[in-house]
Amino acid sequence: MRYLILSDLHANDEALTAVLRRVKRKTFDRVVCLGDFVGYAADPNKVLDRFRTLRKTTISVRGNHDKVVSGVDEGALFNPPALEAARWTMERLSKQNMDFLKKLPLGPELVDGLFVVCHGSPLDEDAYIFSDFDASLNFVQLNRFAEGVDLCFFGHSHIPSIFTLEPGGIRVEAVREARYKLRLEPGKRYLVNPGSVGQPRDRNPRAAYAIYDATARVVHFDRVPYDVGAARRKIHRAGLPAVLGDRLVVGL
Ligand SMILES: [Fe+2]
Repeated sequence: MRYLILSDLHANDEALTAVLRRVKRKTFDRVVCLGDFVGYAADPNKVLDRFRTLRKTTISVRGNHDKVVSGVDEGALFNPPALEAARWTMERLSKQNMDFLKKLPLGPELVDGLFVVCHGSPLDEDAYIFSDFDASLNFVQLNRFAEGVDLCFFGHSHIPSIFTLEPGGIRVEAVREARYKLRLEPGKRYLVNPGSVGQPRDRNPRAAYAIYDATARVVHFDRVPYDVGAARRKIHRAGLPAVLGDRLVVGL
């Protein structure tokens, strides 16, 4: 079984379209989304319509932006541009797409008994995993949630990264290569972030995603160029905070 792993789409239709075009030639059976379908960019309906009509089974969890836009959370922790974008999105979302967001489950979720998915971390959907300390707390939680499962995909930080629990401690890696293969080894545990489709923050503007081959036990990371200028122009024309368009150009 092969899984397409997407996270943090953030209403960026140019980026999502480019990723879906890239994976057309690849094999995958199911699509997993780690949350944050909306917020920041100007195409929330297009992105959600596209995702909801994919001809593959999808498994999703909610992100913090999905919660605020669908009224599950007030967004007290949001910075002003994020809150403005959430309100802008709320006013424009179709009923179907709003219902979809409202029904998204809280992570972590176990997928096919093989791996766990969540937005921020298995411990807390709104928390970030940046450091080995953050990861250590969550490796414990992963064990409690799914005994024997050694892999969790998470999003939220928008940084393609790998945290490995191995006999010597926790290894932290940022994935900087355009294409990278992670071979899972027995006796180790993994927290893996595929990066963000719609708003990468690792100073690389290319859309990020991963494919997990559960049979071969390999995670394939990939980056895809897309029309960043068009996504930026749409954000500016929509009257959303300009910084939300500008940051896409530098990948921050
Ligand atoms: Fe996000």
